[in-house]
Amino acid sequence: MGFSITTYIDQVNRAAAYLQAHLGPLPDTAIQLGTGLGAFADHIETEQVIAYRDIPGFPRATVPSHRGSLIVGTVNGRRLVVLSGRFHYYEGYSTKEVTFPIRVLQMLGLQRLIITNAAGGLNPAFIPGSIMIIRDHLNFLGENPLRGPNVEAWGPRFPDFSQAYQPRLIELALAGAESCGLKDLITTGVYVCIPGPSLEPPAETRWLRTCGADAVGMSSVPEVIVAHHGGIEVLGLSAVSNVNDPDDFQPLSLGAIIEEAAAIAPKLERLVIDIITRLHPPA
Ligand code: HPA
Repeated sequence: MGFSITTYIDQVNRAAAYLQAHLGPLPDTAIQLGTGLGAFADHIETEQVIAYRDIPGFPRATVPSHRGSLIVGTVNGRRLVVLSGRFHYYEGYSTKEVTFPIRVLQMLGLQRLIITNAAGGLNPAFIPGSIMIIRDHLNFLGENPLRGPNVEAWGPRFPDFSQAYQPRLIELALAGAESCGLKDLITTGVYVCIPGPSLEPPAETRWLRTCGADAVGMSSVPEVIVAHHGGIEVLGLSAVSNVNDPDDFQPLSLGAIIEEAAAIAPKLERLVIDIITRLHPPA
């Protein structure tokens, strides 16, 4: 079956109507939790939780263990939406499916999106266990979620991407890192999204670095494209779980990546809480 934009618009609107009916007005800030950051949910004073599978039109999880939920709650007195669990291109979803939750949140008035992920460092100056604030990206998926008919009500046909990552939010994150004592672990850089699921061999690692990337991962860029298209401010944070040297390439396992990302998680959580606190006066 081919893709139909009319059906897609209808699905987005139905999901938005469902969430509005069940949750009422949503907070204007959301965070999407990436690999290893699931424990952030423990910091939330939960008001409401909805399983992705209960939201009409949300993509179906391909793996039974990959449960996802949308949480509304407060962190340090600030209300926000938490997207706990994301859909990845490598799972077989199209980028339209991957970005469906973002489009739905746009319909519900989302103003700001914090996206987190785990990434492999390409910049030789990076160290495992550090955090990269995403300054810009390379979309190497070979697919763009905006391809096809443009929905003018959602955003322009040819959106400007000179500043997809909001400079004010980058400054806020840098200030937050300083006050959290993470100054030595924070960097800014360019994130490249590859399709995966195979990890990059040394030759691709070398090539991605020459393309200008500082870190590589398999997520987030489709969501950033849709959010920016929809006028939502974006902050991207990568937990640098490993650093890949093409001239001395070490074997990588997903288990090790998840373990390292989980080790960074408490620092990233502190930083995110600090950023959210700076963003909003108490609710
Ligand atoms: N490559 C791709 N994705 C990743 C990596 C990596 O080295 N580390 C964490 N996510």
